[in-house]
Amino acid sequence: MAQGKTSTTKSVALIVSSVRPGRNGPKMAKLVTESIQKNLPTDVVLKVIDLQDWNLPVFTESEIPFTVKSWEDYSSETSRNWSREISSHDAYIFMVPEYNNSYAGSLKSAFDYLYNEWMNKPAMIVNYGARPADMLFGGKHFRDILSIFQMKLPANTPRISISTMDREKTAAGEDLVFYDANVEQQVRADVSAAWEETLKHVLAPSPASA
Ligand SMILES: Cc1cc2nc3c(=O)[nH]c(=O)nc-3n(C[C@H](O)[C@H](O)[C@H](O)COP(=O)(O)O)c2cc1C
Repeated sequence: MAQGKTSTTKSVALIVSSVRPGRNGPKMAKLVTESIQKNLPTDVVLKVIDLQDWNLPVFTESEIPFTVKSWEDYSSETSRNWSREISSHDAYIFMVPEYNNSYAGSLKSAFDYLYNEWMNKPAMIVNYGARPADMLFGGKHFRDILSIFQMKLPANTPRISISTMDREKTAAGEDLVFYDANVEQQVRADVSAAWEETLKHVLAPSPASA
């Protein structure tokens, strides 16, 4: 069970998936956390999972995760720990960086480690990258995969363009620095709207208890 979670609370994992030094991922995650905080019920816990802390190797397991029904059945400690962590959450917010017109390999590998742990759960994607928002494709590519896992997704995927930010000030500070406050407001509103939909999925009674 995720830390701070009781049998009645729900846990949402916000996954920072880039692992390179100097990444924007944590700052993007902070913006998302701030944007959803005002609509975070007391019985919903948000936990940041940073893949940099996990240091997962590229997937080299012998099992096909599809066939593994319980965390105990994975052959490696890495898979067992990752399975237990992901299983302990009821929903996920994926921070998806744009790398070469798609999402980062670190995210694909971390996702590929598991299968049943992700299935049918609510999820939300926030895609960010250097190019204008309408030129970011990683969120859509990743969304296609989550759809196959029958994960419950909001209608829209927020896309955040770093071209709307002052890169020098952003690099120097702890926050993203937007040139235009209206753009920042719109970004936060897009994230809030996607979260509102995700939250409905999180709080919906599970089929077993309905
Ligand atoms: C390997 C690599 C490829 C990238 N390719 C693109 C791209 O195709 N389109 C884009 O908009 N930004 C691209 N970028 C810029 C990243 O989206 C941007 O630096 C973002 O902050 C990456 O996330 P991170 O800082 O959390 O690693 C690329 C960055 C890297 C490191």
